[in-house]
Amino acid sequence: MAIRTVLKMGNPLLWEKAAEVETFDTPELHELVSDMLDTMRAESGAGLAAPQIGVGLRGVVFEVCANPRYPDVEPVPLTVLVNPVLVPLEGEMEEGWEGCLSIPGMRGLVPRHSRLRYSGLDACGNRIEREVQGFHARVVQHECDHLDGMLYPMRIPDLRKFGFASEIPQKRELPEE
Ligand code: NI
Repeated sequence: MAIRTVLKMGNPLLWEKAAEVETFDTPELHELVSDMLDTMRAESGAGLAAPQIGVGLRGVVFEVCANPRYPDVEPVPLTVLVNPVLVPLEGEMEEGWEGCLSIPGMRGLVPRHSRLRYSGLDACGNRIEREVQGFHARVVQHECDHLDGMLYPMRIPDLRKFGFASEIPQKRELPEE
C-alpha cells in the first residue's frame, strides 16, 4: 500500500498531455493502479488520474459508493480505465458541481456532456466499453481531462460559480475527483 502525494494546481506536470500505456499486466502498471486506488481512498476522492500523482500515463480510477453525505450523487462502480476513449452521445450539456483533489476545498459549476460512450482497457488489458450518463459520465470526463492537461476551472464559463466549498451553500459535501 502506498499513498502518493497529490499534485496541486500550479504544478506544471498537471498541464502536460499524458502518454498511452503500451504494455499491460505488468508489475509496474499494477503497482501504479494500486497506488492510485490507495491515494484516492485515503483522500476520500471519487476519482484520480495518474498525472495527479506525477505519472504521465493515460490511466484513471474512479469509484463512488452510495454515501448519505452525498445524497445527490449516484454511485459509480469501481473502474480502472487505461487509454480511455470518450465519445459524447446525443443530448444536452448539463451543468453540475465538481471538486478536484488537485484543487482542495474548491468547487465549481462545470458543463459536461450528459451522456457518453467510453472505452479503454483495465490494468490486465481487458477491454471495457460502457454507455453512461449523469454523475458517472461527469466523473469520466473530469478524470480524462486530467490526461490532456485540463483542470475543471478551465471549463467554468462563469467564474462566479467557482469558489471555496465552505462559502457555497449546499456544495461543501461533494467528493473531490
Ligand atoms: Ni480532478
